[in-house]
Amino acid sequence: MKKALKRLAVFASGRGSNFENIARQVKKGKIRAEIALFFSDNPDAPAMEKAKKFRIEALALSPKNYSSKEIFEKEVVRILNERRIDIIVLAGYMRILGPDLIRAFPQRIVNIHPALLPAFKGAHAIRDAYEYGAQVTGVTVHYVDAQVDHGPIILQKEVKISPKDSLDALEKKVHKLEYKLYPRAIKLLVAGKFKIVGRKVLIFR
Ligand code: GRF
Repeated sequence: MKKALKRLAVFASGRGSNFENIARQVKKGKIRAEIALFFSDNPDAPAMEKAKKFRIEALALSPKNYSSKEIFEKEVVRILNERRIDIIVLAGYMRILGPDLIRAFPQRIVNIHPALLPAFKGAHAIRDAYEYGAQVTGVTVHYVDAQVDHGPIILQKEVKISPKDSLDALEKKVHKLEYKLYPRAIKLLVAGKFKIVGRKVLIFR
């Protein structure tokens, strides 16, 4: 019997270029999974339109319409369970996940960060590395745990910063690498090709 495809929910708050890239790879059959939901905390996110273009269900909830973060996330978990989501893929989701949401999807939430963690955590990682004068930065795909930009690292790759690079040029280089690394990690993830041992992620290729 054919194995059912894993059902992904992609979360983004803004532009959604990583989401679009993942959706394209899924459509082409390069990632054997289904994007069963696109979720945003921002109804005006340009990524919402991208979801519609791919005919992916797009749902946005504004946290400000809920009396607390717990109640907002309870509703998010309900929506995810209703759609039988297996894996949550964060792709520029600008909100820190609370413990209930993380507990509801143990080792089933991944994130992409535009730096070599644990360096340059936070929302402005590319600019921070650039302004720091780092000669190397990169991209990290990692599991999400209760601490920000912290869970076990799945894949990580470096980008050199040349003294001649503008911030804009560096951003382009980092995003280009993201578009390669995230699909690669998701492919391994949906194929169940790794195991977490402590902080280490062991990959079977
Ligand atoms: C990416 O740089 C990602 O690493 C970070 O947020 C950014 C999202 O960009 N977490 P986009 O919305 O995918 O274009």
